[in-house]
Amino acid sequence: MSSVSSQDITLQLAGRADAQTIATMSRDLVESGLGWEYRAERIRAMIADRDMVTLVARDGDRLMGFASMSFGDEHAHLVLMAVRPAGQRRGIARRMTDWLLETAATAGVASIHLELRAQNKDAYAFYRALGFTETLRLPGYYRGLETAVRMIRVLRAPRVVPQPLLWRPPSR
Ligand SMILES: CC(C)(COP(=O)(O)OP(=O)(O)OC[C@H]1O[C@@H](n2cnc3c(N)ncnc32)[C@H](O)[C@@H]1OP(=O)(O)O)[C@@H](O)C(=O)NCCC(=O)NCCS
Repeated sequence: MSSVSSQDITLQLAGRADAQTIATMSRDLVESGLGWEYRAERIRAMIADRDMVTLVARDGDRLMGFASMSFGDEHAHLVLMAVRPAGQRRGIARRMTDWLLETAATAGVASIHLELRAQNKDAYAFYRALGFTETLRLPGYYRGLETAVRMIRVLRAPRVVPQPLLWRPPSR
């Protein structure tokens, strides 16, 4: 395959027809050695979930990468991301992440959270380059087999709930 520059890539919201390709890429690039949780049915549910955004990066008809984020009021969670080996180191994941971070910031989200396999040095380097910092290591997080690294990127200061709103008089 000829090389792909980031400029040849179009970002779009994923459709149902992308689910099988995303699931296969997740099995091979993200979950390798751990089993296969993100099968097509689960990916279809993520694509349909109104609290999630699943993006795909295409070179023509070929799906080169994907990223999926779930949104809450205060936090968002980057659930899955991968770029085909032939498309890596051309800024595709950076473009998808920037898109999601901008969307999260516009939605008023305070911070983005994610977990990755501790052995995944490439992804760790990628997230550090994108401004994420490590907060915690969780031994056995992946099916008791592998440690997870938890990372965060803060977009704004967290909302402080005024104490009088939290306080309740003790019941008698
Ligand atoms: C991690 C991953 C998504 C990065 O995708 P990508 O499109 O290659 O990343 P980008 O080209 O946007 O990289 C942006 C920056 O991140 C850093 N980076 C990315 N991959 C890196 C690597 N393998 N080693 C060191 N730094 C890396 C670099 O600073 C890079 O900028 P540069 O190329 O100008 O030096 C990709 O390697 C991948 O799909 N890996 C397998 C699946 C996976 O690990 N997913 C994430 C965990 S769920």
